[in-house]
Amino acid sequence: MPKSRPNVAVIGATGAVGDVFLRVAEERNFPLNSLKLLATARSAGKRLRFLDADIVVEETTEAALKGADLVFCSATSAASRQYAPFIIGEGAVMIDDGSAFRMQANVPLVIPEVNGEDVEWHEGIISIPNCTTTPLAMALHAMRQVAPLRRVTVATYQATSGTGAAAVEELRSQLAAFGRGEPIPLPSVYPHQIAMNVLPQVDVFGEDGYTAEEAKMRNETRKILHLDGLQFSATCARVPTIVGHAEAVHVEFTGPAPLAAIREALSKQAGLVVMDDPANSVYPMPLNTAGDDRAFVGRLRVDESTDYGIAFWCVTDNLRKGAATNAIQIAEELIKRGRL
Ligand SMILES: NC(=O)c1ccc[n+]([C@@H]2O[C@H](COP(=O)([O-])OP(=O)(O)OC[C@H]3O[C@@H](n4cnc5c(N)ncnc54)[C@H](OP(=O)(O)O)[C@@H]3O)[C@@H](O)[C@H]2O)c1
Repeated sequence: MPKSRPNVAVIGATGAVGDVFLRVAEERNFPLNSLKLLATARSAGKRLRFLDADIVVEETTEAALKGADLVFCSATSAASRQYAPFIIGEGAVMIDDGSAFRMQANVPLVIPEVNGEDVEWHEGIISIPNCTTTPLAMALHAMRQVAPLRRVTVATYQATSGTGAAAVEELRSQLAAFGRGEPIPLPSVYPHQIAMNVLPQVDVFGEDGYTAEEAKMRNETRKILHLDGLQFSATCARVPTIVGHAEAVHVEFTGPAPLAAIREALSKQAGLVVMDDPANSVYPMPLNTAGDDRAFVGRLRVDESTDYGIAFWCVTDNLRKGAATNAIQIAEELIKRGRL
């Protein structure tokens, strides 16, 4: 019997994504019967606000997960791998924010506005994409209605909250020390100081010279769009902002893709906003898009360095559409389709 008002558990409720998850669930009036907030033993006993109640955080254990119909996991890959078998064994569904299962063949990787129908074939786990993949895939999905995609190159400018709450704290403490004219504390989250700096490294390097984040963007975009052969190259950088990942993107098509048609396709794409008035310096930035559930594109122009090319800029709140909002939308999609 499909559930329309599930018992919900959130693993990682005390984290950067977990915090936003609770706000998004409130805003969207997510239909739940009960809510358990879970984290590590370090957080057990903390109280988190949801609607008009304080909920006591519990340590994540199988006993604590028992009875849940739907588990949102925004913790670590190790936690996802540890608890997934129990969750599936109980007949519940896990919506996983992490990268542990994203590329597994029997796990749908879903952006509801792009490939919502993929939830139909889930076997207990549905992954949400990396926070830089989501807005890019949304824009590419809109653009491929105009002409088939051949090649994508992208450079990212990623906020510190993408690394989690400890990274935001690292940036804040470095900025505060700088403001006081004191020596800047040594980094512990990042390999270098992030304040007043840009790091051309997000995650670890692979043997091919790309980072894991760059490989995730390539592989996940191909999987979501069902385009295994899409030529793709990314450079991911960490910048000293707090919320909102930006991307500079160049797309090549296999044939003509007029700018006006691309603009129209983007403006029709659900969940995407075209914010593009360069004459008045209007374009998306972290500061004018954070807190919004949608992805934003601007700086649309023809890329004249190739036959059929378009260049654009996009920005998205990494904690919302890049994580919590997308996870909740997947749950809404499951409920709508009677697949929970
Ligand atoms: N931040 C983003 O923009 C973003 C976007 C998309 C996806 N994600 C993914 O979402 C996940 C969480 O990211 P975050 O940024 O929220 O990280 P975070 O701020 O570091 O929070 C991590 C959360 O996971 C909990 N946790 C850690 N290890 C655990 C374990 N073994 N068992 C149960 N809970 C555990 C932590 O609990 P304690 O507080 O008790 O330590 C905390 O609640 C990651 O997989 C990340 O890749 C993040």
